[in-house]
Amino acid sequence: MISRETIELVLSRTDIMTLIGSYVSLKRSGSNVKGLCPFHSEKTPSFTVYPQDNSFYCFGCGVGGDQISFIMKMEHLDYPDAVKFLAKRAGITIIEDEDKRYNAGPRIEKDRIYKMNVEAARFFHRCLYEDNPDARAALSYFTNERGLSQATIKHFGLGYAPNSFDRFTKYMLGLGYTHDELVAGFLCGRSEKGNYYDAFRNRVMFPIIDVSDNVIAFGGRVMDDSKPKYKNSSDTPVFKKLRNLFALNFAKQTCKESMILCEGYMDVIALHAAGFTNAVATLGTAITSEQARVMSRYTERVIICYDSDEAGQKAAQRAMKMLEEVGLEVNVISIPGAKDPDEYIKKYGVKSFAEVIGSAKSKFDYNLGRILSKYNLEIPQDKINALNELANMIAGVYSVAERDVYIRVVSKKLGVSYDSLKADVDRIVARNLAAYKRGEAKRMEQESIGYTDKVNPDYVKEPAIAKNEERVLGLMLLFPEHRAKVFREGLLTEDDFFTALNKKIFRFLQTAYEKQDDRLVSMSEEFTPEEMGRISKMKIQRMELSSNGEEVLLECIANLKSSVADKHCSASPLDRLNDLIKRKRETDDN
Ligand code: UTP
Ligand code: MN
Repeated sequence: MISRETIELVLSRTDIMTLIGSYVSLKRSGSNVKGLCPFHSEKTPSFTVYPQDNSFYCFGCGVGGDQISFIMKMEHLDYPDAVKFLAKRAGITIIEDEDKRYNAGPRIEKDRIYKMNVEAARFFHRCLYEDNPDARAALSYFTNERGLSQATIKHFGLGYAPNSFDRFTKYMLGLGYTHDELVAGFLCGRSEKGNYYDAFRNRVMFPIIDVSDNVIAFGGRVMDDSKPKYKNSSDTPVFKKLRNLFALNFAKQTCKESMILCEGYMDVIALHAAGFTNAVATLGTAITSEQARVMSRYTERVIICYDSDEAGQKAAQRAMKMLEEVGLEVNVISIPGAKDPDEYIKKYGVKSFAEVIGSAKSKFDYNLGRILSKYNLEIPQDKINALNELANMIAGVYSVAERDVYIRVVSKKLGVSYDSLKADVDRIVARNLAAYKRGEAKRMEQESIGYTDKVNPDYVKEPAIAKNEERVLGLMLLFPEHRAKVFREGLLTEDDFFTALNKKIFRFLQTAYEKQDDRLVSMSEEFTPEEMGRISKMKIQRMELSSNGEEVLLECIANLKSSVADKHCSASPLDRLNDLIKRKRETDDN
């Protein structure tokens, strides 16, 4: 438990503008400050910081909260770790309460898992050099079959997990790690009968290391054609598969100008061994927008170098989109005559691969080549199909000037007039825009009646009541004096609230009042960043209104009470429906 005083100190020493500004480029607009939301992809800023209230809110994805919520979401930390993160940043030493009442169950310390992983990596690496047939086969797999040098094996800390049910687990228990810790770190499995076994057996091992040089996970590959080819750590307290990148710990040194993105561990290792030390790979999944954002912090340009099969090329399309959305310049290379970069280097040599990298194409050129190679332009129907695909592709480009350049290139290349191709492209752009707007309108409509409300699922059941609840809570959240009045005079109880989230917010405010916590410091401990977003929204909606005095509070309370009373009186379903519609109109009007 971190004390309230410490949390207050951390919050007061953490300027929200400076904090968020170190992740997001913020621009002043009116009395607020805006930027592109780091939690979802957008082209126009809807991520807003309210310095006066020490809060942020994204009108696009609904995430919000205070400095702590921001760091929880941004750095993927739980509440105590986010507080520690900010404390460290502000130079505050945290003295943790001995009272562990609030941590039920064994709390697995992250530091222990990091240390445990280092021991595991050392163990696997040593096993590679043991004097027995299994170990010799593993070493020979790396050196003879995959052509890796001793230096490369050492550099990447590669290893071998012995062909044993529990040799590794016993070894780690001997070092003082517990079964719980081993299971939490995904190094040990537990059978239904309750027996523990080594998670990795008879596999060559690839440690996964983060940018702070912590060993966070492992991938293990079989040495033959059996399945599954790789077994990877699942997410653990120190590992998020969808966020980390293999070899970024090395690549971060040399990737400022460009980074090579491959599919496989072995591709990355072969590239590093050949001197392309700016190569990284995802961890057995398609690239996520989060990984794209991580990459954009280290580099300007990404060269996608995926397998040449159909799956690889499909994945490349998706990766292009992800990477462009975070503002990275994207190049793509295809590797002719080999299935992947590893094989290409073995077959054609380092120099040839360097040439391939040098000839990396822009997304447009890559797609142009890909589409043209599918069709025979001498055949009219083929040419029409090619033009169609190209017009669609150009229409997907955001910048008008860029579209113009591409229309010129394509019209020349295919021998059609600039004007006719431009007319086609413009028509598709307009059609896409209309479809987008329809989708957006529908989404907003559903949101407003609550069909898609994941944060407060009860909203949809009684939207009118929920809206009244939010009005009251907005006032109470903004003004300590309103809270004091409500609780002092017992104007409301939690039973007056119908939706679960709003009930919880009310209860939180009540406890805070009882503890004389006027600043609601521990709010981000109790509520997720998504729920905090909803809370911010309630406040913002209130802030935008001019009258927030006591008479308004009393009126809102009366409205809430009568809407709840209505719910309990058994009018006919039709009357109720009419009433709801009427009330919805009223609520929409104000
Ligand atoms: P590949 O099958 O291309 O593996 O899968 P690779 O690393 O190039 O290995 P070699 O060259 O065939 O030995 C690409 C990546 O997908 C993930 C791994 O991260 C792998 O590096 N993968 C693949 C899995 O996680 N599980 C699998 O069963 C297969
Ligand atoms: Mn491969």
